[in-house]
Amino acid sequence: MKNDIDRVLFSEEQLQRRIREMGAEISRDYAGKNPTMVCILKGAVMFYTDLLRNIDVPLTMDFMAVSSYGNKTKSSGEVEIRKDLSTSIENKHVIIVEDIVDSGFTLSYLTRMLASRGAASIKLATLLDKPSRRAPGITLKSDYSGFEVGDEFVVGYGLDYAEYYRNLPYIGVLKPEVYQG
Ligand code: IMP
Ligand code: MG
Repeated sequence: MKNDIDRVLFSEEQLQRRIREMGAEISRDYAGKNPTMVCILKGAVMFYTDLLRNIDVPLTMDFMAVSSYGNKTKSSGEVEIRKDLSTSIENKHVIIVEDIVDSGFTLSYLTRMLASRGAASIKLATLLDKPSRRAPGITLKSDYSGFEVGDEFVVGYGLDYAEYYRNLPYIGVLKPEVYQG
């Protein structure tokens, strides 16, 4: 698996250091607010569990799965809910936790959808952002953003290519020959 990685973009240590800062910032902002932390499966799962361990205000957890790339490396622009929340978010302060903002379709759709369910507030915590890939007309900004990346496909620490590489403890770029098979 490691042989498929061209180079490491963010090491375990870099990820953990940044996530500690993000957790501290969220803890300050959400004192007394008991936020509901929504994990977008599966890509955000590593980030989610590490982030939550660095937040020291009372919070609740919930999970959602949406369709994204399938086995392709380009977003279709369509968002399908595969697994919905198991709790009500009415009057709750919601923080959506996602691995990466690419075109921005997924998170702008989810933000609108969860707002329509009567959340008291909705903010976004995202590990990675690819600002250069934002779709026309999408003006999405993450409230808590870990790192910016360029226009390249990254894997590891939850992020996959064709469902693999999620268990790498760091984030890296695949060798081109891996896509070409
Ligand atoms: P968006 O709706 O285009 O913003 O796509 C967001 C989703 O696409 C993320 O939740 C990821 O699942 C997937 N994605 C986008 N870029 C990458 C990448 O570089 N590696 C792995 N998955 C990615
Ligand atoms: Mg995803």
